[in-house]
Amino acid sequence: MSLAGAPHPSSQIRLGLANLGDGVGLRPVHFPHLLHTPPAGWGVDWFEIISENFIGNFGYAAHVLEQVAAHRPIVMHGVSLSIGSAAPLDRDYLRELRDLARRVRPAWISDHLCWTGVAGINTHDLLPLPLTAACLAHVAERVRAVQEFLGRPLILENPSTYLEFAASRMPEWEFLARLTEMTGCGLLLDVNNVYVSSVNHGFDPVAYIDAIPADRVVQIHLAGHTDRGTHLIDTHDHPVAAPVWRLYARAQQRIGGCATLLEWDADIPDYPDLLAELAKAKAARAGKLPAIGPVAAAAREAVSTPVSYQLGYAAG
Ligand SMILES: [Fe+2]
Repeated sequence: MSLAGAPHPSSQIRLGLANLGDGVGLRPVHFPHLLHTPPAGWGVDWFEIISENFIGNFGYAAHVLEQVAAHRPIVMHGVSLSIGSAAPLDRDYLRELRDLARRVRPAWISDHLCWTGVAGINTHDLLPLPLTAACLAHVAERVRAVQEFLGRPLILENPSTYLEFAASRMPEWEFLARLTEMTGCGLLLDVNNVYVSSVNHGFDPVAYIDAIPADRVVQIHLAGHTDRGTHLIDTHDHPVAAPVWRLYARAQQRIGGCATLLEWDADIPDYPDLLAELAKAKAARAGKLPAIGPVAAAAREAVSTPVSYQLGYAAG
C-alpha cells in the first residue's frame, strides 16, 4: 500500500522522517488475528503503539510487538509525557520511554501538546494549555530537554479540547508553528481533533489546516468522534466523520503526503472492518470522499484517552 503519485518535495524536509504510508493502532483485540495471519496479509504499511501499554511489559503483548516489529515499522505514541505541566519532567517515565525505544526501534516517538497532571497526580486526560508566550517558552524548554534525553525529535499532536483558557493569546496552530521553529520538533496533525475542537470552540477547521506548517507534519491521525449535542468528544469509537475526511484530503494535498494512522480505541471492529475504514484514506487522497451519514449520538459516557485500563472503563 502506498500513496498515489510522486513524492512531494516537502517529504524530503520533514525532519528526514519517511512517509510510512497507511497504518493502524496495534490493539490487543487484534493480536490473535495478526499472529495467525502471514505479514503479507496484514493490509497495513505500519503500526502505532500506545507506549504506556508496552512500558515494562515483557509478556504476551511484548511477544506480539516483537513479531509485528520484525515485519513493519512501529511508531511509539505516548499519553503521559505531560509536556505542558508545571511539574518537573518525569525522568522515570522518560527512562522507561527510552528503554522501550531501544527495544522497539520506532520510526519516531510522539505525544500530545497538553498537560496530564501536576504534583504527582495523573488525570489520565489530555488537558489544554493556555496559549500564551510564557507557556510557549515553558513548553519549548521542556521539548528541548526531552529531545536531548531521547536523542531524536519529538513529534507533538494537537489535542482535542473542550475548554479554553481566557488567557490564551494565539490560536493553537500558531502556538504549534512557533514551537516547531523554537525546538525543531515535528507535528502529528490529528484532523479529527482539529474538527472536534473547531466545533467545540467555534473556529474554522479549514483555516487551521491551511495555517499549520506543512513541512513539519510527520504524521496524520484519523479517528471517529461522538456527538453529545452541545459538543463533540474525541472517542475513537466510530468511523471517521465526513467533515473529517474532507479535512484529511485537504491536509494531505497541502502537506504533500505523510504517514496516516487510523485510531480506533473503543468498540473496536474486527480487523477486516478496520482495514476497510483505513482504505477510505487512500480513496480520499485520490479525491473520492466517502459518503457517510451523520455521527451517532452518544449512548453512554465517553472517554478519550486510549490507555488499556481506560478501554476497560469504556467497555464497562
Ligand atoms: Fe490522535
